[in-house]
Amino acid sequence: MSVLSGKNILLGISAGIAAYKTATLVRAFIKAGANVKVVMTPASKDFVTPLTLSTLSKNPVHSTFTNDDDDNAMWNNHVELGLWADYFVIAPATANTLSKMANGTCDNLLLATYLSAKCKVYFAPAMDLDMYKHPSSIASFSKLKSFGNIMIPATSGELASGLIGQGRMAEPEDIVDFIEQDIIDGLPLKDKTVLITAGPTYEAIDPVRFIGNHSSGKMGFELAKTAASLGATVILITGPTHQTVNHNLITVVPVTSAQEMYEAAHLHFNNSDIAILSAAVADYKPKNIATQKIKKKESTLTLELEKTKDILASLGQIKTNQFLVGFALETNNELEHAKLKLKKKNLDLIVLNSLNDKGAGFKSDTNKVTLINKEEQETVYKLKSKTEVAADIFNTIIKTIHA
Ligand code: CTP
Repeated sequence: MSVLSGKNILLGISAGIAAYKTATLVRAFIKAGANVKVVMTPASKDFVTPLTLSTLSKNPVHSTFTNDDDDNAMWNNHVELGLWADYFVIAPATANTLSKMANGTCDNLLLATYLSAKCKVYFAPAMDLDMYKHPSSIASFSKLKSFGNIMIPATSGELASGLIGQGRMAEPEDIVDFIEQDIIDGLPLKDKTVLITAGPTYEAIDPVRFIGNHSSGKMGFELAKTAASLGATVILITGPTHQTVNHNLITVVPVTSAQEMYEAAHLHFNNSDIAILSAAVADYKPKNIATQKIKKKESTLTLELEKTKDILASLGQIKTNQFLVGFALETNNELEHAKLKLKKKNLDLIVLNSLNDKGAGFKSDTNKVTLINKEEQETVYKLKSKTEVAADIFNTIIKTIHA
């Protein structure tokens, strides 16, 4: 999954021959999972048709303040377009459009949108080599950079004029790669590795039976997705669940038993910066696993159970710089029990969820948590989706790490 997935990209096209490549660019953004809208300068329609772009983007394309051909002409709201966008990408950006952007000229819809957009702006210049080198263009580039706009440099090669030099708009795939990398570089967990345990564990009784629990794994998977969306490399060690995830920053390590989860967690812990243990690990396992299916003979059956290893506590004992987060699922004296676990297991943060709270717990899509930090400060959150809870947890971690 790309960091552009689900993002709103406004593509601004100005009148250069490279505009013909924007059809491919729209496709590449859509392939990355983004929503795309297009705003064009009127002159750019000589190079690529709005019909092509609206078909590919599945959105109307705007180039004027009103739709002139339409008797019911509507005002094309540049402010709304600018606010809709998470990213405004101007490609190709001609010398003329760049100069106008740099100087606040506002004589077409693209420029009006640029001036009202609050989002991150990228521009990919395209012009002939001498225009690219001209002090006036260089002044536009640096002025736009000083505004916080990001330049996707032109590449060298054969130009429309037949001359060879720098001025070719970056290729559509390279524009997408550039923007993805730039977004990742700005993410708060870039270069961090996050270890997450999720789901239940199954403890075998015999070849066909096990002791398990109702954990759905949802919370752990949401934590993994949030960590990845913040730029982290994620090792997601999960017991058996129906959850799935497909993200290039997430490596899923499937395990079954508490012992397997213990081993996988220890294998990856040293290379982790943050570890969040949200799995519902079985506390006990059968002391002996029957090699054959147990036959029903007597009217009762007694299984002898022994403790599993406490993964969280064992990581707390060996942790060096890792930020260690545990979960506590409690039914009574919740705060007291959670604080005790925080200390006993040497944690930096504990996420308390009480089974007494409606909508909190194993199978639901929601959770109601209290976060307790090392200083035993409590933050009580209202009932939220597990996605929002994951965001709250990471906000707290990031704030604490950077404090
Ligand atoms: N945990 C773990 N390994 C275990 C048991 C628990 O890593 N063998 C972790 C869980 O992932 C969770 C935290 O420990 O982050 C708390 O688990 P919980 O079952 O609530 O607490 P326990 O320490 O097992 O204590 P108790 O069951 O007595 O409340």
